[in-house]
Amino acid sequence: TFAEGVPLVVEQATRRPVAEREQLLADPGFGKVFTDHMVVARYVAGRGWTEATLTGYAPLQLDPSTAALHYAQSIFEGLKAYAQPDGSVAVFRPEQNAARMARGAVRMAMPPVPAEGFLAAVDALVDADRDWVPTGPDQTLYLRPYQLAVEPFLGVRPASEYLFVVIASPAGAYFPRGVQPVSVYLSEDYIRAAPGGTGDVKCAGNYAASLLAQEQAIAAGCDQVVWLDATEKKYVEEMGGMNLFFVLGAGADAELVTPELTGTLLPGITRESLITVAQELGHRVTERRFSVEEWRAGVADGSITETFACGTAAVITPVGHVKARTGDFTVGDGTPGAVTMALRERLLDIQHGRVADEHGWQHTV
Ligand code: COI
Repeated sequence: TFAEGVPLVVEQATRRPVAEREQLLADPGFGKVFTDHMVVARYVAGRGWTEATLTGYAPLQLDPSTAALHYAQSIFEGLKAYAQPDGSVAVFRPEQNAARMARGAVRMAMPPVPAEGFLAAVDALVDADRDWVPTGPDQTLYLRPYQLAVEPFLGVRPASEYLFVVIASPAGAYFPRGVQPVSVYLSEDYIRAAPGGTGDVKCAGNYAASLLAQEQAIAAGCDQVVWLDATEKKYVEEMGGMNLFFVLGAGADAELVTPELTGTLLPGITRESLITVAQELGHRVTERRFSVEEWRAGVADGSITETFACGTAAVITPVGHVKARTGDFTVGDGTPGAVTMALRERLLDIQHGRVADEHGWQHTV
């Protein structure tokens, strides 16, 4: 069953030939290749979740007046399934994504997808498309659950009909250059999130609103935009769609600082997992506000040795050069830092099942 007693109906879908699949899996890139199936569930006000189907991957039919297309009442999630050494497949902490999406639904005045329905949909899709979980180094099956308002209506109010959809996409590295440090541009013209806004949920509009600042970063010769707080433009919040960590000191005694969740940051599941993993590796981890000036001064006096961004899609990405109107600076020597790489390896070892899952983070399908 999906949830609320609604069955998860399994429809026959065409599977692409093995040779075609293997060719697509050889070098999938990110977000371009999709599997043979998807899950679609429907919600109707007054009736609740009315149907859920595992079906063939195909275009959705949407009325041109579909509410989400006009007013962006829409949220999404990202999580990954990993091929395990014993041949099974494990999804990393899917219950965390279910909970975050339910919180996001409340913020966007949408009916939350019950956690059991979210997990049932993910399990059914991964199981049906098990052969699409790639086994190459650092390859995964990226899962994209999302929920959107589909009522055909142009009035501005919460819609009365929604779809919950899950699609799956075999993925290699998110950034084409892999784990090479990225250069970043501190955005002073645009903000990502303001207090009371939607910065702490994964709503589609947050990402649309980030694109121009990201283009500005690229025009300035940088790879990614770094967001500052909206009120004082003094504190570092996020990089693009990823959370940030700063490494103070070096080696096993290094302390990690990550911006605290003030309500304008996205509570990343990779962020949360890395706090745990870093503590287990003996690091002190502090969540607090962290200013651009502290970053700059720490890099100048050598007390800040590394900076990295983290997220599900790109895992961990070192940050190298920082471009700002108030002056540029460079973290590290242009190569990934030791603490950054140790954390990355440890997290990937857990996710790919190369070490014991002591936290119960792996959800075997
Ligand atoms: C992440 O996984 O870091 C993301 O924010 C997903 C991105 C592709 C939108």
